[in-house]
Amino acid sequence: MIKDNRQIILTGDRPTGRLHLGHYVGSLKRRVELQNSGKFDEIYILIADDQALTDNADNPGKIRDNIVNVLLDYLSVGLDPDKVTFCIQSSLPALHALTFYYMNLVTTARLSRNPTVKAEIAMRGFADEGLPAGFFTYPVSQAADITAFDANIVPVGEDQLPMIEQTREIVEKFNRIYGETLVLPKAVIPENETQRRLPGVDGKAKMSKSLGNCIYLSDTAKTVKKQVNGKMFTDPQHLRIEDPGHIEGNVVFTYLDAFCRDEHFAEYLPDYQNLDEMKEHYMRGGLGDGTCKKFLINILEETLAPIRASRAQWEKDIDSVYDIALAGSAKAREVTNETLARVQRAMRINYFEDRLIIKDWEKLLKEQR
Ligand code: TRP
Repeated sequence: MIKDNRQIILTGDRPTGRLHLGHYVGSLKRRVELQNSGKFDEIYILIADDQALTDNADNPGKIRDNIVNVLLDYLSVGLDPDKVTFCIQSSLPALHALTFYYMNLVTTARLSRNPTVKAEIAMRGFADEGLPAGFFTYPVSQAADITAFDANIVPVGEDQLPMIEQTREIVEKFNRIYGETLVLPKAVIPENETQRRLPGVDGKAKMSKSLGNCIYLSDTAKTVKKQVNGKMFTDPQHLRIEDPGHIEGNVVFTYLDAFCRDEHFAEYLPDYQNLDEMKEHYMRGGLGDGTCKKFLINILEETLAPIRASRAQWEKDIDSVYDIALAGSAKAREVTNETLARVQRAMRINYFEDRLIIKDWEKLLKEQR
């Protein structure tokens, strides 16, 4: 009973902060390409506010505030509400119902093995404080997100692979028990290693607000410059320009790997034809960090300036942003309600869908007599 071969994308973000360059190279850029490829029947982007609440129950205001930030980030990178449906998780009650059914198809032992959740539990100190059951089970709710839209493609960052794996297990188990009902999804992650995990400007593995090592899509040009010139980790052994430098672990070069194209040299640094030549000079000695950083700032600005300008436009029109989220959520509500009905039918718990069950009950009562 699965619908034909439609190509459906679902992906999403927790609205816990403004989106940064890590989000951009790791997923937003890809989403815009997918949107413009014309190859997909539907693309849904879910603002996962309920999932965000699983570790922010004491601070719903933060989630509420960041819904608009994330919407603005989406719109300003070029995601187009005519091609993509933006929706808000908490306004899709079918997701909650699906989560509750899927919970029965997952063991707590399996949930405990999810490597991403394990790492997050350690990071948030839940091991000592106590682990909220909602947080522990959020991979199940993510399976509900994905399956509710019949998504077959889920473009995500590498850290989300365990969620898609768990979703696939749930789908397989559901279909085995109740008959072919749910679509088996596939994760799509960025091909390029540096795009999968852009480090913070300080070289720490992850960009995080509390570490102050992010470059946000909404940062001013001045802030971007300050983050690169003031905080970006290079090579501590590269003291004088003529000293040989190291590329490995040098964040300026990691970012260049993610953002730089050959054309950028003709435009901003004509001494070199390409990044390999530049790296060679740096390793040989004679190329200073200042020059490299200036080049990187120019390249980052090429990406960030149009995003910033677009955001400024959308910020003046918050009514439209609201209407986009409202219309997208209404459409998503219909789609997810249909899936819930299909699931309940498959489980034969669709008691009030028709009056056929009365016949079954009558038959049963006769047999019991
Ligand atoms: N867990 C994802 C994150 O932390 C957000 C998310 C929620 C999501 N539901 C999803 C991603 C469904 C892909 C598909 O970024």
